[in-house]
Amino acid sequence: MKPVVVVTGTRPEIIKMAPILRALKKNKTPTVFVHCGQHYDYNMAQQFIENLELTAPDYNFKIKATSPGAQTGQIIAQMDKLLEETNPAIVLVEGDTNTVLAAAIAANKRKIPVGHVEAGLRSFDLRMPEEHNRRLTDNISDFLFAPTNIAKVNLENEKTWGKIFVTGNTVIDAVNEHLPIAERKSEILDKIKFKKYILATAHRAENVDDIKILRNFIEAFTESPLPVVYPIHPRTKKRLCEGGLYDMIEKTPNLQVLAPLGYLDFLIAMKNSELILTDSGGIQEEATAPAIKKQVLVMRLSTERPEAVEAGFAQIVGTDKQKILSAIKSALERKHKLPDESPFGDGKAAERIVDIVEKEFFVD
Ligand code: UD1
Ligand code: UDP
Repeated sequence: MKPVVVVTGTRPEIIKMAPILRALKKNKTPTVFVHCGQHYDYNMAQQFIENLELTAPDYNFKIKATSPGAQTGQIIAQMDKLLEETNPAIVLVEGDTNTVLAAAIAANKRKIPVGHVEAGLRSFDLRMPEEHNRRLTDNISDFLFAPTNIAKVNLENEKTWGKIFVTGNTVIDAVNEHLPIAERKSEILDKIKFKKYILATAHRAENVDDIKILRNFIEAFTESPLPVVYPIHPRTKKRLCEGGLYDMIEKTPNLQVLAPLGYLDFLIAMKNSELILTDSGGIQEEATAPAIKKQVLVMRLSTERPEAVEAGFAQIVGTDKQKILSAIKSALERKHKLPDESPFGDGKAAERIVDIVEKEFFVD
């Protein structure tokens, strides 16, 4: 029987593919798990494989890239070799990273069907490399697993060729599966210095690669009315060091800088926060999970997750320091009740996706 190849490259892909890997394992479907090495530090990759109790990847690529093009090219070349060796029925990719585009191109060149998990998201912001990756991947995918109806309509409007299925987002499955484990195992609250805090993350290239915007974020964090806990992404740490800001933020009393957190710790840090401040995609979704239920201020000019805004969880606050600060103040004063359901699904997305794949390729 030909296997299913499941591809990951970065932290969020490991988290969002975990429920799919588990569902495939439960059904004893032959699976090849490949981590393409776009994220390679222990705390950006292997830590998640361990936290999510995944079987070790069958293939682990080493990428030595100095540019996004080289990164994409090297993954295409290594995926091409892997696909020749494994001859899969389908290649599953998740999200909008360079890994996703590279793996989808490699499969397409070998005429192997591509299933795109989290298809159809659109920010309509062409400054973002992810917007290009999503559009290109959706256009060469045979199976488009749209998390919501909005994503489905985006795909229909673009007349993409693949079959569209609305499945929910597997990130909600991941939260449901891991929060109870996190509540037992995580000790992060002993390490967080503040009782009440805002949890912040920032890593988008169009934000942190611009020193003015990065400075806005740091100033907003240091002047925030409530202390900020800030696990730093390696891209951002690099930019802060280059800009001479890193030493200063480490010494700021109401800002606690942490290394990237593991998934269990991050879930607990989110759940216990008063508010989330982020430019992340996945965190906008997780904040809507019934077990987390937090307000999120999105430090960006756009979002590809309008569902979180429409449901009342998220607000797009831009990247200006004063706007971020006044949004923090009003969010902390606001006492509105957040919905009991997530717009990103019921936590059964992975089951649906695996069911579709199995009916298509493994059931006579
Ligand atoms: C990538 C994705 C982004 C996703 C994010 C998840 C693209 C275009 N971007 O952004 O969509 O939201 O992952 O976190 O695919 N680095 C390390 N160690 C690592 C990984 C990265 O030090 O393990 C540093 C390196 O200096 C590297 C830089 O971070 O050059 C950027 O990494 P890269 O994977 O290219 O992009 P991200 O910003 O992580
Ligand atoms: N995350 C984590 N530790 C951190 C920061 C984020 O485990 O220190 C998790 C978070 O729970 C979410 C995912 O990483 O599931 C989001 O990844 P990221 O923000 O890097 O990428 P994006 O979702 O924007 O592509």
